[in-house]
Amino acid sequence: MIPKILVTRRIHEGGLKLLEKLCEVEVWAKDNPPSQDELVKLVSGKDGVLCLLTDRIDGKVMGAADRLKVISSYSVGYDHIDVEEATKRGVYVTYTPGVLTEATADFTWALLMAAARRVVEADRYVRGGVWKVAWSPDLLLGVDLRGKVLGIVGLGRIGSAVARRALGFDMKILYYKPKRASQRVERRLKANYVDLETLLRESDFVTLHVPLSRETYHMIDEEKLRLMKPTAYLINTSRGGVVDQGALVHALKEKWIGGAALDVFESEPLSPNDPLANMPNVVLAPHIASATHEARASMARLAAENLLAVLKGIRPPCLVNPEVQAVKPLSEVKML
Ligand code: GLV
Repeated sequence: MIPKILVTRRIHEGGLKLLEKLCEVEVWAKDNPPSQDELVKLVSGKDGVLCLLTDRIDGKVMGAADRLKVISSYSVGYDHIDVEEATKRGVYVTYTPGVLTEATADFTWALLMAAARRVVEADRYVRGGVWKVAWSPDLLLGVDLRGKVLGIVGLGRIGSAVARRALGFDMKILYYKPKRASQRVERRLKANYVDLETLLRESDFVTLHVPLSRETYHMIDEEKLRLMKPTAYLINTSRGGVVDQGALVHALKEKWIGGAALDVFESEPLSPNDPLANMPNVVLAPHIASATHEARASMARLAAENLLAVLKGIRPPCLVNPEVQAVKPLSEVKML
């Protein structure tokens, strides 16, 4: 039987072609993600779903897909998928780490530098016709990076790639993660291990690179924000839910911290009426840290390869829930 696959948005054609060679593929071709009700209808009769981070794949959606064998997410984050539920049901969950690491680290630096050197304010200044004096000694002053402390929360693939770039800027690197990195990694990255509180107290830039989970939800809350220096910047390219956004607005309004540069929010898209959108010391982006042609093409391929591997009865390259194999061995999901 030819596997039936749902792809919840039009992704790079390299990935789609791989799927189309071997499967019957239905693509949700609209710009907006399908609603939960639409998703429930679309998954019915499907053997695999290639989804995006905007699709909430919960028990109800899985319950409507009695043939479902694999959920392949076109993302490194998988907080939108109820992985426990998938495992219980014998559904394989895959993701796309690695291929977007460099793009995301680059963008983290784009945000950091935009905040430090007020690039967005400067752009608005020129376009808004406010630039009247050719050059001024104190126009739009920012801060040097050299010698400053970069605090990296989460030293995984992306956090480490961010640290590597910091070496070129002569910054001092502090990092925190639940399990300390090896001495080899610490030496290579010149990264100093500290607890989260120390990192927040001592850093001039705090950048977040942890997945969203029960443990990391609102990890940066009012109490944590109050530890930061009044001149420090918070950079977030991970997930909005890692930061208590209400507390962050407070922190920015009341100047407990110097500024923020954010690619992710608790609710996306961010409303243009959100208080964050009216603060000059905040740089905003619409969740695009991995948005390069190269990264998105690789993500599409890897998501397709992950999905096809499961249907071929092969362990996929990037499996989120290896324990699923005890519930349903690969030999039982093999269709190709
Ligand atoms: C993007 O946020 C991703 O998880 O890939």
